[in-house]
Amino acid sequence: MQSPVIQPKVPLLAEPPQSVIKFFADSTSIEDIRDLAATGLIDGVTTNPSMVGKSGRPILELIGEICQLVEGPVSAEVAGATCKEMVREGRILGKVAPNVAVKVPLTWEGLQACGILSREHGLMVNVTLCFSANQALLAAKAGATFVSPFVGRLDDLNIDGLDLIREIRAIYGNYPALRTEILCASVRTPNHVKGVALAGGDIVTLPPEVFPKLVDHPLTEKGLAAFMADWAAGGQSIK
Ligand code: E4P
Repeated sequence: MQSPVIQPKVPLLAEPPQSVIKFFADSTSIEDIRDLAATGLIDGVTTNPSMVGKSGRPILELIGEICQLVEGPVSAEVAGATCKEMVREGRILGKVAPNVAVKVPLTWEGLQACGILSREHGLMVNVTLCFSANQALLAAKAGATFVSPFVGRLDDLNIDGLDLIREIRAIYGNYPALRTEILCASVRTPNHVKGVALAGGDIVTLPPEVFPKLVDHPLTEKGLAAFMADWAAGGQSIK
């Protein structure tokens, strides 16, 4: 007799819900990004001038390679100090791949460059080095696709970085038409990730070495070892 076909009672999710927090890799390591992309859990990448400088590779080549590894936004930062320089560099970076997000600093010049790059040139812009709610408000007003508040660097000064995420979430929530996403950066620990999710951050970018720490739990390992021992002792198999 043929086995009956069992219909699932709930629809199977082909794609994760769009509203779930996004995870970006904060890295310029091709190897790490490739490994993380293979998990299917990575939605984008962030880089900064320190990382690119240390990579020893020309920025356009490096960013181009990263953009081929992930479909989502890849942040690449300008180095100019004036709006004019930032716009010039941002346009060059924006031509590397359609998924480049031009990163500009949260300065008056950077905010002006953000407006020009996003509104006149149609580029995604990540306004970075955000340390206050008013700065985040200005980034949104300037048309930023992303604003990057730095959680860990505030914690370094004994100021609760997650408070800033809560403030920005509350302020942006007062203006539902705002489309700027809160890209929580300088995230260094699993507790930061949990805190960002509790605060309603849209995106968390974290160094590759933090990802495994989100999964690891001694009770999971212990439980699995016990299950497998009992399974083997019972002579079971799935065929
Ligand atoms: C992300 O865009 C930032 O470059 C990064 O998260 C900074 O992290 P750090 O404060 O640990 O250097």
